[in-house]
Amino acid sequence: MSSAPEFLLRSEQRSRWMRFDTAQLLKRFFFCERSLLVSQASWIPAIAPLEIKTGLARFIWQSAETANALRERVFELRFPSRLLEEEGTDRRLIELFDALKVSPSVPAFLLSAGTILLPALHKAYRAYLEASDLIADGPTHRFLQLALAEKAEQIGAFKLWIEATLSQNPEARSEAISWSDEVAHRLSAAGGVGVELRVDSTPAGPLEGAKAYSIPVHPARDQRFWPCRFYWPDIVDPSYFYGEGMQLQLRSAISHVNEVWAVEAGGIILSAFADLLPWEWIHNSARWTYDESRHCRMGYERLMAWGLDPAEIPLGTYIYESATVEGSGDVPTNMLGMLFFFETKNIRHKPERARLFHSYGDSLSEHDMDFDWADETLHASYGKRWLKELLGIRGQDPATYEEVRRNCEKSVNDYVGTATQAEIRDLKATAERLLKKANQLCQRSDR
Ligand SMILES: [Fe+2]
Ligand SMILES: [Fe+2]
Repeated sequence: MSSAPEFLLRSEQRSRWMRFDTAQLLKRFFFCERSLLVSQASWIPAIAPLEIKTGLARFIWQSAETANALRERVFELRFPSRLLEEEGTDRRLIELFDALKVSPSVPAFLLSAGTILLPALHKAYRAYLEASDLIADGPTHRFLQLALAEKAEQIGAFKLWIEATLSQNPEARSEAISWSDEVAHRLSAAGGVGVELRVDSTPAGPLEGAKAYSIPVHPARDQRFWPCRFYWPDIVDPSYFYGEGMQLQLRSAISHVNEVWAVEAGGIILSAFADLLPWEWIHNSARWTYDESRHCRMGYERLMAWGLDPAEIPLGTYIYESATVEGSGDVPTNMLGMLFFFETKNIRHKPERARLFHSYGDSLSEHDMDFDWADETLHASYGKRWLKELLGIRGQDPATYEEVRRNCEKSVNDYVGTATQAEIRDLKATAERLLKKANQLCQRSDR
């Protein structure tokens, strides 16, 4: 009898992972990205340098876009099921990623994210792209190539942030190192993020040195700026002229850079409601946080382009602190309410201001205001939608979202009422100095 094989058999690398295996790996990546971005968002208010605060907001948005693409791809691979199961056998790995939120300090957070967790994901993405099938799994390759490049950029940025932060806080070095060593040890015991299908063996239990997370009462501020609570005199003195001409150009840029509070509020709400609201909330609020970081940078870049010095520029805290002040209730809900209140309060002025800047020939302010306006229209809808959903989940009437907005307005007004005479005097002196300097810069550019 012939023993010739009955089938065409050939071992090919591209058949290494079947459809279901692929979905399992992509699901692991999804949960890693989700966890990373939620923790990163929670750290935004505690980080002082403007570059790191706004840079993190951008990386959170990148992670959210990658996670969203991963999530959609997992659904495609398991079609027709729309269920994305829980972490499953990756639960402990994801718990390790979640521990980033309870890092003991800013340097410890930066070090463990930048030198352990981000490189682990980068390595896993590269291994996945090398071993998976470009034909069957082409749709994944397209977005994961981008995610790989973004991870490399993120790791590079974290390296610089870690060096700068540790050089300014040398006393935090040893704690940061032992924390990230602990994270590294746990991760290697789990075999890294990896691309192996395995039984979860990551050690369980809290990490040594973990510190319970709490939302900072006061946001950290970049020390290069003039520190204050209220950043322009018209906030505390309604008779102070908002401005036109050069004064309006300056006032608008000051407003923009002071949207740093909105970046912090975005980070807080994203993280606080991540487990309560559906995935789309994280996706929306990551974009929201990133957009506010772009508005903040628009103001900063304009002020720098005009030749002003950060030490002369007031960077305030009053809106953030109106939401955290004692007796104001649930902080994340206040932050969401504050964002919604300010989005809807200011949006109507923006097209008119863009038109005025155009008439001054100030294309930079016009450009920034016009792009800002487009973002804010989207944000007002986010605010209304998610406040209503949140109220509904809590068993309250979703129609009362306007009440949350009004409470926030009242909290801000009450907080503004705490401004002292000395504070107002110093603020007016700083604003006058800045206006004088800007006036000199206008005359110089005339020559
Ligand atoms: Fe904004
Ligand atoms: Fe906004």
